[in-house]
Amino acid sequence: MTEAELYLQYKGVFVPKLVHSPESLQFFEEFTFRHDDIIAVTYPKSGTTWMQEILPLIVSEGDITPVLTLTNWDRMPWLEEHRAKELNLEQRPPPRLFVSHCHYSMMPESFFKVKPKVIYVMRNPKDVFTSSYPYYGMAMYMVNPGTKDEFLETFLDGKVIFGSWFDHVKGWLGAKDQDCIMYISYEEMILDLKASISKISLFIGKTLSQEVIEKIADHCMFKNMKQNKMSNYSLVPSEYMDQKKSEFLRKGIAGDWKNNLTEAQAARFDSVYKEKMKDVNFKFMWDE
Ligand code: A3P
Repeated sequence: MTEAELYLQYKGVFVPKLVHSPESLQFFEEFTFRHDDIIAVTYPKSGTTWMQEILPLIVSEGDITPVLTLTNWDRMPWLEEHRAKELNLEQRPPPRLFVSHCHYSMMPESFFKVKPKVIYVMRNPKDVFTSSYPYYGMAMYMVNPGTKDEFLETFLDGKVIFGSWFDHVKGWLGAKDQDCIMYISYEEMILDLKASISKISLFIGKTLSQEVIEKIADHCMFKNMKQNKMSNYSLVPSEYMDQKKSEFLRKGIAGDWKNNLTEAQAARFDSVYKEKMKDVNFKFMWDE
């Protein structure tokens, strides 16, 4: 199926129609934030599901009940998706936890006034691409990616859901009010999950014991999260996600692009990266 059939255009980017509608996007635009809300913002395939496991466990101080009884999309909903409207978010006790894939420039008016806390998760874009390719092949609500070479151009051009990775990252890195934003990378979490959990806890004002941090880190290890049916997308019918083609929690490593991109594909990626990121001074955790 084509882009026109599967996607909506929202502020210059594609979003999948299966989970977004003009009404859901209007709900997002009119959403009233509270200063104690916490939003994990990610470009798709950068570690959203991981944050939907980590943050609720930090808030519950290691009690795993919420992550074993609520799906990731209910415990930490996407504000721009249909589901958010149905969850009676007004009644949720603080801190309310949300995720969003939106660019900084797409955030609603209330966000800029209230300045809730944001955890912005970044991942090596070559790994984002590597993770996206099988995902676009298994998720029936996405346009078939074609060959890897074709998808590479689609991805580099930002003709994918939520637009260009480069614009997304540059937009959030250039955000005002950076005191409210914590930047973290997928690679940092892979390198030292306990330290990352500790850093996130401090940012959201939670002091956790070493024992609780270790318990959370253990639960959030890839092999353990993969077993959690509330997080591994096994509850999504196979007509929407065919996990026989590729699992949602696929490999969970840093640097998988090295196993998946040819030298020519990596070189093409690097040349676009170099041009698009030439004015960015941020020190990323991955090899550029
Ligand atoms: P891979 O496809 O490279 O395995 P998102 O949730 O933003 O869609 O990102 C999905 C990516 O995060 C997938 O990457 C998935 O396996 C990875 N991921 C999810 N949970 C993880 C965990 N606990 N540890 C490491 N990677 C994880």
